[in-house]
Amino acid sequence: MHERFSFKTKSELILKAGKLGFDLPFSDDIAPLLEPLSLKDFTVANRLVVQPMEGYDSESDGSPSDLTKRRYLRYAKGGSGIIWYEAASVCAGGRSNPRQLWISKKNFNSYAILNEKVRKAANKEGFNPYLVLQLTHSGRYSKPEGIAKPQVASPNPLLDKTKPYVLTDDDLKRVQDEYVQASKLAVRSGFNAIDLKACHGYLIIELLAARKRQNSIFGGEDPDKRFRFMLETFDRIKDETHDGFVTSRLNISDLYPEGFGVDENGNLDFTEPLILVEKLKIRGLRLINISMGSPYYNPYVSRPFDNPLPGQMVPEEHPLEGVMRMINGTSLFQKGFPEIFFIGSAYSYLRQFAPNVGAAVIKAGDACFTGFGRGSFAYPSMPFDLINTGKADPSKVCITCSGCTRLIRNLRPGGCVIRDKEIYGYELKQMIADGK
Ligand SMILES: Cc1cc2nc3c(=O)[nH]c(=O)nc-3n(C[C@H](O)[C@H](O)[C@H](O)COP(=O)(O)O)c2cc1C
Ligand code: SF4
Repeated sequence: MHERFSFKTKSELILKAGKLGFDLPFSDDIAPLLEPLSLKDFTVANRLVVQPMEGYDSESDGSPSDLTKRRYLRYAKGGSGIIWYEAASVCAGGRSNPRQLWISKKNFNSYAILNEKVRKAANKEGFNPYLVLQLTHSGRYSKPEGIAKPQVASPNPLLDKTKPYVLTDDDLKRVQDEYVQASKLAVRSGFNAIDLKACHGYLIIELLAARKRQNSIFGGEDPDKRFRFMLETFDRIKDETHDGFVTSRLNISDLYPEGFGVDENGNLDFTEPLILVEKLKIRGLRLINISMGSPYYNPYVSRPFDNPLPGQMVPEEHPLEGVMRMINGTSLFQKGFPEIFFIGSAYSYLRQFAPNVGAAVIKAGDACFTGFGRGSFAYPSMPFDLINTGKADPSKVCITCSGCTRLIRNLRPGGCVIRDKEIYGYELKQMIADGK
């Protein structure tokens, strides 16, 4: 049964998890979160990661707006070891909305300027974050002018609301060139790493599962064909950025029929994701940011919550099941590939106890980093508080109300409507006044 978070103490939380059949990891000592870790030639100061969180607030040419800059400067001052910039499109047509970040030849200098400011603001507080840019093509969920323009690897009646355009192999070759070009620009803008986004239903994860794609070098029953786009793009980026650091935000299971990492009924099956990660490892991949599910199909999987979006069903499963699925899935990969650093996700439902759970997971060797998505929107300075006080402030944490998702689904700038009220509470009010 679904349940809103009402646990006042660690014991109440652990007891509830136990009743659901889970042994929730919990460490009173959060020191494991504050240990440094070396990534190639960079020492990441701690294990806390700002997860990529789209703000739908770029300028129309895809460059960061004042609101975008504000978000990243707040993260910079907050003290997370890694700031994983939100999804940035590699081309105009692959944007999820008219205000999605998009890095291009014309605007990459604006990213360089932002990165410089972010480093300066962080340095002033004594931090030196590792900066990753998430590169994406929104595929089925492309809405470059605010109206759905789905571009897919193959149609899927379960997911398609309108007849999608099926990308040809030539289209995909062009998109691959755009990934490579965007990666080069990202390196020139001062990012430490490039993320080949392969999650949440967008183009690359769709290709990984495109069994029904016919007569194509990028799809069909043979997994080598389905993995080809991602692996070839990975190789080309490494080569053409002179061994730049390439990572991936990877769904280890979509948890829907015909998705990636599922059996014929849409249930968890890690067989292919494990083969893919082995292939990526051989190519030199050393950092993976784990996720599962799709925000469009089964949002409770990737982001366990108290409240669904208005009009959506309250899921059957308890949010702690979602939290534990992500912890256990990440652990399986971390244990299977000890040479790769894995980032765990979906902790925000746990409120002020999330750092204790993350610390226990790291201590047990079940992940190397703990990521915060909604938690970073709501409470970007949590790492600073953890460093200085050893705990998170319950009055600042995310309450998983789905307000930020509600804003972006209505193409409004996204942020925390509860803890960053002046801007985003106002946005929500305006949206409601507009009848949304
Ligand atoms: C408003 C919103 C925007 C998001 N944008 C992205 C994104 O750009 N890229 C991505 O990989 N995940 C994105 N996510 C997913 C988060 O990174 C994260 O996986 C999810 O919120 C679960 O973590 P949490 O429990 O800490 O929030 C987004 C989630 C939300 C709610
Ligand atoms: S609006 Fe704020 S409190 Fe609500 S889910 Fe988003 S980040 Fe959390």
